[in-house]
Amino acid sequence: MKTKLTELLGIKYPIIQAPIGSATNPVLASEVSNAGGLGMLALSWKSNEDCIRIIRETKKLTTQPFGVNLVLDWDQEERVDICISENVPVVSFFWGDSSKHIEKLKTHNIKVCQTVADSKEAEKYAALGVDFLIAQGWEAGGHVQGTVANSVLIPSIAWKVGIPVVAAGGFTNGQGLIASLVLGGSGISIGSRFLMSTEAHIEQGYADLIADANENDTFYTQDLFHLGWENAPHRVLKNSTIKEWEKAGKPPIGKRPNQGEVIAQDANGKSIYRYSDNNPIKGVTGNIEAMALYAGQSVGLLNKRIPSKEIIENIIEEAKQSIKFIGSLK
Ligand SMILES: Cc1cc2nc3c(=O)[nH]c(=O)nc-3n(C[C@H](O)[C@H](O)[C@H](O)COP(=O)(O)O)c2cc1C
Repeated sequence: MKTKLTELLGIKYPIIQAPIGSATNPVLASEVSNAGGLGMLALSWKSNEDCIRIIRETKKLTTQPFGVNLVLDWDQEERVDICISENVPVVSFFWGDSSKHIEKLKTHNIKVCQTVADSKEAEKYAALGVDFLIAQGWEAGGHVQGTVANSVLIPSIAWKVGIPVVAAGGFTNGQGLIASLVLGGSGISIGSRFLMSTEAHIEQGYADLIADANENDTFYTQDLFHLGWENAPHRVLKNSTIKEWEKAGKPPIGKRPNQGEVIAQDANGKSIYRYSDNNPIKGVTGNIEAMALYAGQSVGLLNKRIPSKEIIENIIEEAKQSIKFIGSLK
């Protein structure tokens, strides 16, 4: 399936496995890339040594293009240099201004992507020379930059910039892929569905809660799970922490119920506090249900964990059915 995105990146299908924080890993990214999509590693918080190791491990598992995502609320200068020295095919930026990195990466033949949430930002980064944009809609899981839904965001952007625009948020199956293309997009970037892949590094209890959730069960909040990353709105599954905070009258930071309570431990035994930005990645023990359960509205379409290769095959099959359906319209 050819689009401007597949031509640009040299991939078979216009499907990106969205960076889903520490749930990403070399096996997930390489399986997606080997299946014809673009696998992504989220390396924003990794040490330099870990970044190099993870990139090299991914390269051992695939000869296909893959990407590294960096969140610009943290200093990413050294990680950008690592991407250059390790010759990473694609670097994507989120939550901040990538201007100073664009030319440097492009000089080294690395494709650059910026996530945007409105047409003004899209035009700015297109003019600065990024190769493609991810337009993140309000439906998306995890940290959410804007408040516009993809049904409006994609056409608002896609017809204004000459570069590929990829829809992130809500578009999670073959119908979503075709919808993105019809709206002017060049593909989809999928987070929550790959969080439910068998390769994603998450605790099964988290996956079970996603599987049980429907499209009404997520919650968009400005700052509830703020410890670790402040002033960053996010979408999570509704859980006991949210319900207790609502029952208490939605008090501001500092006055919230059970603030300071340790609710879980990470794989190294480090305490995870209530209202922390940690989600239950592999190895977390404790009260998983009360943690930040990042997930998008697309959870209503997800009910079981399957390998990422199958996810891609299913999307392509569903997309073919949609094309047939469109062909049958009079
Ligand atoms: C658990 C989780 C972690 C995320 N971490 C990142 C990240 O590190 N960098 C980033 O650019 N986006 C991150 N996102 C947002 C996704 O890249 C993407 O925009 C979103 O998942 C798309 O919506 P969907 O979940 O409906 O597919 C994260 C999303 C989730 C669910």
